[in-house]
Amino acid sequence: MSKGTYYLTTPIYYPSAKLHIGHTYTTVASDVLARFKRFTGYDVQFLTGTDEHGEKIQKAASQKGMAPKEYVDEIVRDIKDIWKRMDISYDIFIRTTDEHHVKSVQKIFQKLYDQGDIYKGEYEGWYCTPCESFWTKTQLKEEKLCPDCGRPAELAKEEAYFFKLSKYQDRLIQYFEEHPEICLPESRKNEMLNNFLKAGLEDLAVSRTSFDWGIPVPFDPKHVIYVWIDALSNYITALGYGSDNQEKYEKYWPANVHIMAKEIIRFHTIIWPAMLMALGEPLPKMVYGHGWIMFGDDKMSKSKGNIVYPEPLIERYGLDALKYFLLREFTFGYDGTYTNRSFVNRLNADLSNDLGNLVSRSITMIEKYNDGIIPEGKTAGAFDEDLKRIATTAAEKVEKAIDKLQFHEGLEEIWKVIRRVNKYIDETTPWILAKEEANKEKLDTVLYNLADSLRIISILIKPFMEATTTKIWTQLGIDKEQCTSWEDAAVFGKIPVGTQVQRGEILFPRLEVEKEVEELEKINQAYFKKINGIQEEEETVEMEAKEEITIDDFDKLELRVAKVIKAEKHPKADRLLVLQLQVGNETRQVVSGIAQHYKPEDMVGKSVILVANLKPVKLRGIESRGMILAASNDKKLVLGTIDSEMPAGTLMS
Ligand code: MSP
Repeated sequence: MSKGTYYLTTPIYYPSAKLHIGHTYTTVASDVLARFKRFTGYDVQFLTGTDEHGEKIQKAASQKGMAPKEYVDEIVRDIKDIWKRMDISYDIFIRTTDEHHVKSVQKIFQKLYDQGDIYKGEYEGWYCTPCESFWTKTQLKEEKLCPDCGRPAELAKEEAYFFKLSKYQDRLIQYFEEHPEICLPESRKNEMLNNFLKAGLEDLAVSRTSFDWGIPVPFDPKHVIYVWIDALSNYITALGYGSDNQEKYEKYWPANVHIMAKEIIRFHTIIWPAMLMALGEPLPKMVYGHGWIMFGDDKMSKSKGNIVYPEPLIERYGLDALKYFLLREFTFGYDGTYTNRSFVNRLNADLSNDLGNLVSRSITMIEKYNDGIIPEGKTAGAFDEDLKRIATTAAEKVEKAIDKLQFHEGLEEIWKVIRRVNKYIDETTPWILAKEEANKEKLDTVLYNLADSLRIISILIKPFMEATTTKIWTQLGIDKEQCTSWEDAAVFGKIPVGTQVQRGEILFPRLEVEKEVEELEKINQAYFKKINGIQEEEETVEMEAKEEITIDDFDKLELRVAKVIKAEKHPKADRLLVLQLQVGNETRQVVSGIAQHYKPEDMVGKSVILVANLKPVKLRGIESRGMILAASNDKKLVLGTIDSEMPAGTLMS
């Protein structure tokens, strides 16, 4: 029996460039929520789509010499492909160029005009095309920059229709006060209330005449409808609002949640609710603005070349790994920084070491100690109760976390179970029990408990990592119909005794972190260049020549081959390594500023070039007798080494 309806939405993305992992983040979170709600018995509608009108798209198309529709068709195809590749379970994909949407938006505009909520006037102010936002002079940052994105806004003066936003100010304030979930997290609600609602709302220009890629105003077609009015309406037109068949609308509206990042929360918690109030329709139950995925100090930007796309990550590590990383690494609601290192570390620690290892150890032991048959657990052991309690109480905690959109917290609850089960193996030491026939019943209990814990874990991760769940079920020998509903995750002892398990492929292979990070840097950069049509360039070096020297000057230098026999971090400086070098039959200590490029263990055994007659100095308290040569610029440092074996101490000239 259905627990009721659940309607959730992502933003509709601009088809102006290829989507990156920022967009993926919102869509993956929404997808997990949709899957979770279906799994727990709701009748779900999950909407996503594309926002295809407006000046920004028109400009992007004309730069490519294409008609706007032709241009967006191509990108929309790519967006649908990526969602398919990511197994995004949307029910509706709306395009704002869909005919039914266009007609309904015109009806909405007409209705608001007829009832006096839209009127004609003249707009004089500033417009930010990348954000498709109107601003007053006082709202702009100095240098006439958009307060949202920091890019230059342009002066616009044109005849325009206006929506009476100001009329809804008091009702909106009251609504915010009575319905805290209209804007989450809490901090964003306060920002909206104080910076916008209480500061005073001005009427909003809702039509443009300076370009034509948009939905024409039905009664004045030289105007096109402002793209945000067009776009926001998608949440109801997708359900048939304003069409002949409003059945879906009646059934699913109001939305349970609109999900997006923080930069567009203003449109969704002020303009959209005011439009709905004017239309006499109910407001969404929740609007959630999550944080940004940052790259260093930036939100991604093409010009900085720091955009990360999902495709290479999925290709190399699998879809579930990317989904897990996105929802576990970042706290939903707050900004977080992506690095290749955090990606690799997360996969290695949580997926390979914790989860993958647990599955593989457990199944291997059932095969080894009981011919792959899940035995009956007859004798209770000392650690069983704690294990069962932690395993069976997780579902409720996960559900609570997901309901609050705290995906990272939900995953952490699941990982508490995984870590508890790993600890259970260490506590019960099945390999020792297996040595004595007298312990057979105890061993059987441990094996049964492991199998059933895996079953519970596989259910808990299902909304997050469907493919991994299926793989675990195959290894456990259970199928969809058996003991795998969400409710079954709260009950211990459901996996049937006698089930045949079978070891399968390693779920998440262990990664060699340093090597993998290096590889991933290359892969992501190469993909970025491919997508953005950037040719690999030979780097040219600007050289500033030094004064000429004579051979006698050069002869003063004593350059020698030196072999690194020991390397340690400098106790007081992150950038320095303390090296012990073998030079002839003497050992030399040299302090070198290479710690950010070479790890101590990578240095031992290298043959380097030593300036042996340099005056000794103390570097942060440690004596350095000489210097080793390296090539460096502001990005890289590479040591000069000898390319084949020469005895340490050999003079170089
Ligand atoms: N078309 C509007 C939305 C209209 S909804 C009625 C739009 N489109 S967009 O293509 O720019 O998408 C913005 C959304 O993409 C963000 O709100 C967020 O959901 C997602 N993200 C884009 N970059 C992101 C990050 N770097 N980090 C997190 N989310 C990001 O705005």
